Amino acid sequence: MSSSPWNPDQYHKFRNERSQPFFDLLALVQPIPGGRAVDLGCGTGELTKLLHEHTGARSTTGVDNSETMLERTAGFAGKGLRFKLGTILRFAPRSPLDLVFSNAALQWVPDHERLFDRLAAGLGEGGQLAVQMPANHDHPSHITAFALAGEEPFFSEMQGYRRQWPVMPPEWYAERLDRLGFREQSVRLQVYGHHLGSRDDVIEWVKGTLLTDYQQRMAPPVYEQFLARYREALLPQLADARPYFYGFKRILIWGRR
Ligand SMILES: C[S@@+](CC[C@H](N)C(=O)[O-])C[C@H]1O[C@@H](n2cnc3c(N)ncnc32)[C@H](O)[C@@H]1O
Repeated sequence: MSSSPWNPDQYHKFRNERSQPFFDLLALVQPIPGGRAVDLGCGTGELTKLLHEHTGARSTTGVDNSETMLERTAGFAGKGLRFKLGTILRFAPRSPLDLVFSNAALQWVPDHERLFDRLAAGLGEGGQLAVQMPANHDHPSHITAFALAGEEPFFSEMQGYRRQWPVMPPEWYAERLDRLGFREQSVRLQVYGHHLGSRDDVIEWVKGTLLTDYQQRMAPPVYEQFLARYREALLPQLADARPYFYGFKRILIWGRR
């Protein structure tokens, strides 16, 4: 078992809310019958299977660096779909692909200038790039976590680490795709409105994603202290409404070379 902080059960607590952006991204992707695709940061694999079926690809490879997430993919592999342990940081296919797809994963990879250069370089003529990433770093749920990471004892516990947000504004990706020679493109920012039971559920939401980054850097008792402080600092900033409306911004990017 790996020490990856990704916990499929925590992540899937909001499975329905998290799958809608995937379907919106999938709707942008044009079929590639007989082609080759990769799903970067594929997670537990059920969405990669839907991608594989949608595109009609001959082969689709789901790549993830979390063994814990990949353990759940076993039942989905077959008929040209496979999964492998690997990091997006070293993505460099040996021969050009027809589709590079990534849903809710590239926000974990730094330096998007170099990253998008590499993603584009992995595509052949007519190849498609499809990416969905959260763009919610200006919401109190994210700002509060960043602020707390600068406070003691967390700052020392994480040796000064504070998560830097690599996601750029939507127009930056549009310009980048154009410069990289994509002949067609669609880039948009979309607000997904989620009705959560109460504002407390915002904490459950980020425990499955953003906070995993801090969790893996702290001893469990310190992380428990972090969570308690986070709750104390965040909740007064959120409306005490039931249901609580969690407006979550995401960028959807599609391009064809
Ligand atoms: C929010 S989950 C999304 C999973 C899946 N794409 C989905 O839509 O449900 C992000 C995934 O990206 C993976 N990930 C994060 N950084 C990665 C990296 N550098 N290389 C490969 N996978 C990475 C995580 O392990 C996790 O499974």
